[in-house]
Amino acid sequence: MRRVLVANTKGGCGKTTLATNLAGYLAQLGHKIVLEDLDRQQSSASWLARRPAHVATVFNAEDLGKSALQKADWVIADSPGALSEKKISDAVAEADLVLVPIAPSAFDIGATQDFLALLAEEKAVRKHKTFVGLVGMRVMPRTHSAERLLTFMDESGFAVLSMLRSSQIYVTAAEEGLSIFELSNTLKEVDIAQWNPVTDWILQNS
Ligand SMILES: Nc1ncnc2c1ncn2[C@@H]1O[C@H](COP(=O)(O)OP(=O)(O)OP(=O)(O)O)[C@@H](O)[C@H]1O
Ligand SMILES: [Mg+2]
Repeated sequence: MRRVLVANTKGGCGKTTLATNLAGYLAQLGHKIVLEDLDRQQSSASWLARRPAHVATVFNAEDLGKSALQKADWVIADSPGALSEKKISDAVAEADLVLVPIAPSAFDIGATQDFLALLAEEKAVRKHKTFVGLVGMRVMPRTHSAERLLTFMDESGFAVLSMLRSSQIYVTAAEEGLSIFELSNTLKEVDIAQWNPVTDWILQNS
């Protein structure tokens, strides 16, 4: 079992979007996927509840015992914005991979700077037991703010995986309990191409 933590102490940066889409992607490849919703808002859990019967199952950690959880191929944890330093430490130590979504605004970059500094200090990260990958979220291509976000990510010292554009298909997929990979919308090709480096990074670490 491999564990992916999706985290950033900045609220609304795209954690649930990243976690649910990754879960849907890996499930449709045939992997046994468990989604663990650590957020009191339970957005990931409500996405699971909306999932139609015809798509690959994603299990809710809440419904599984410890041994069933251990038998999963991947556990993907969606975390809340408000996470204490102690909880961050514990969650990072437990994870094989940490995905950090970052939205392109001065507020998001400012808040994420502190979070990345915390991550860099974590023993598991320093000892290369836990790997960190950054993903730009809700990016408007060819804007100054997209450029500023990319510069910030490049200078962080962490792996920069991709920049996912702002697209209504994320909103539609979320409403339907789907990942964008499971939508029958032909306009999603650009978005899927943007996901390739993220899914490659995840699978390389399996
Ligand atoms: N690439 C995208 N294109 C369009 N909308 C997006 C994209 N990524 C995220 N969103 C939207 O941005 C909003 C915030 O995303 P999301 O809920 O995933 O963030 P979060 O970090 O989980 O928030 P919270 O801290 O409240 O848990 C949602 O309405 C989501 O649909
Ligand atoms: Mg969320």
